[in-house]
Amino acid sequence: MQIVNNISEIQEWCREKKLEGKKIGLVPTMGYLHEGHLSLVREARRDCDIVVVSIFVNPAQFGAGEDYEVYPRNMERDCALLEREMVDLVFAPEVKEMYPAGYQTYVEVFGQISNKMCGASRPGHFRGVCTVVSKLFNICQPDIAYFGQKDAQQVMVLEKMVRELNFPLKIVRVPIVREEDGLAMSSRNVYLDQQQRQEALVLYKALKSAEENITQGERDTRKIKDSIEKMIKGCPQADVDYIEISDAADLADIDEIRGQVLIALAVRFGNTRLIDNLIVEV
Ligand code: PAF
Repeated sequence: MQIVNNISEIQEWCREKKLEGKKIGLVPTMGYLHEGHLSLVREARRDCDIVVVSIFVNPAQFGAGEDYEVYPRNMERDCALLEREMVDLVFAPEVKEMYPAGYQTYVEVFGQISNKMCGASRPGHFRGVCTVVSKLFNICQPDIAYFGQKDAQQVMVLEKMVRELNFPLKIVRVPIVREEDGLAMSSRNVYLDQQQRQEALVLYKALKSAEENITQGERDTRKIKDSIEKMIKGCPQADVDYIEISDAADLADIDEIRGQVLIALAVRFGNTRLIDNLIVEV
């Protein structure tokens, strides 16, 4: 497995692989890998001749006062895990390689798909995500790029960006990987203390209970949101950022459950903000 820090080197390497007719799969990550990331890698390994994983904690997607500085990093462990998954190349650039002095070009998807939920709580977040992912697409020229469904809004924003900017690639969504007790895997779970870790189980429980209410016939999104909120507020350390039920195709607000809907939430436990979601179809 090669580890490359330099853009021109990986660009050249990917260009050669394309000329050889190889199919390139790209898994963009911010590192501190867990089973969720590895499920993306395994899917890429199944579909593609060449698997490239990027590890880059992207400052452009963190707001002032967020956890950029303390975001967990462990390059050595990440590379050992990726080697075991038969990854061909790890691209791990420095910040100044991706954003040299005087950098001023950004990519932004406008509209409700990026303005609500995480877009509202983290202004500029998706602009940072779209910018870095566009750069990674241009650098690696992947045929397929893999993203986790845990960041449901992120993958929808990126799908729209790919469609509207005509990137010649396919995005594959990979299902959420959960701990045995239901907590969605996230690099940020390491921030949780014991009590917060226990309380965080309410996220999936509340989502499953909403699904159950819908299965039993409830269609009023207000009532479903209220019952999710009530469950979460039963946890002393939980502070709800948002609970949203939207059309799963375009994130439009809905009053009534119909077709495929995305139930998504973000909740803080102390300084740690966790997100989770579930798609329900009626
Ligand atoms: O989901 C992530 O880890 C990041 O947002 C991504 C897609 C790697 C862009 O920095």
